[in-house]
Amino acid sequence: MTQNDTLLDPSQYPDKDVYGVVGNPVAHSLSPLIHHQFAQQAHQNILYGKLFSEVDLFEQTVDTFFSKGGKGLNVTVPFKLKAFHVCARLTERAKAAGVVNIIWQEDGQYVGDNSDGLGLVRDIKNSQFIINKKNILLIGAGGAVQGVVLPILDEHPTLIVIANRTLEKAQQIVQRFSSQAKQVGTTLRAISLDHLEQEKEPFDIIINGTSTGLDQVSPLTDSQVKSLTNIPAQALAYDMVYGKTTVFMRQMQEQGLKVKDGLGMLVEQAAVAFEVWRGGNSRFELNTKIVLASLSQKVNT
Ligand code: ATR
Repeated sequence: MTQNDTLLDPSQYPDKDVYGVVGNPVAHSLSPLIHHQFAQQAHQNILYGKLFSEVDLFEQTVDTFFSKGGKGLNVTVPFKLKAFHVCARLTERAKAAGVVNIIWQEDGQYVGDNSDGLGLVRDIKNSQFIINKKNILLIGAGGAVQGVVLPILDEHPTLIVIANRTLEKAQQIVQRFSSQAKQVGTTLRAISLDHLEQEKEPFDIIINGTSTGLDQVSPLTDSQVKSLTNIPAQALAYDMVYGKTTVFMRQMQEQGLKVKDGLGMLVEQAAVAFEVWRGGNSRFELNTKIVLASLSQKVNT
């Protein structure tokens, strides 16, 4: 991988619609592989590359990309909040998420969307788990968790508990979504991670949305996991991180739970982005299962 591989310049590809993923770091991104497979499936003549940005130069990097003819950008770490502020218009789900992972231009203005939450929900459903009328435990209260609450609520679960090391942050998210929760009849409440053992409702789906997977630690101690009586063996444990078996996933595997990493979420959020960008006048159906299978092989070899 050379640095040039992450300096996407749309003006070099005048015969293609150019898209990309902007991040720092970005060299590791699987998004080009995913989008090129979608393009093949949908017979779309696009090029999708990687765009590195210095942390302080995000806005400038985005401006240069679009001024050179770029059509759309996915946004990854650490720019999702900056992307939110760059956009003059936001979709409802981007407003709810408070962060943006898809940008395009309309009438010279940046429009922002967020497909992470829908990606997560679609991936969970693909795994034959249902959210409707189920109890969901969301661990963490950062941008990643805030971004998935509304799409999960859209499935009308019975209960969502947000458990975070810092209770106030979980409480803030609960406050942010309390009216939507009420509308769909979901009980939404916050709890400190330290008090998780006191939660007696059994959870059907447990989602780790903390950044701990990146550091190879778990938000739950081993003894905490053992003392949890509210995790039935048929529950799903999901870590939003992809490409590795995290400590959290191992702990849950030891409890006999089915576990999943976030690779399917990555593919599904990309499919939503592809549909947003290319779906307008074209009719196509993306086969995300084939793409996920090919990526799983790549990640695990
Ligand atoms: P992101 O945008 O990826 O969600 P973030 O906003 O920095 O990142 O949020 C990180 C989340 O991981 C937070 O919920 C954080 O808990 P705090 O709010 O208490 O900081 C959580 N987190 C990070 N390291 C953790 C750890 N070792 N144990 C438990 N939670 C952790």
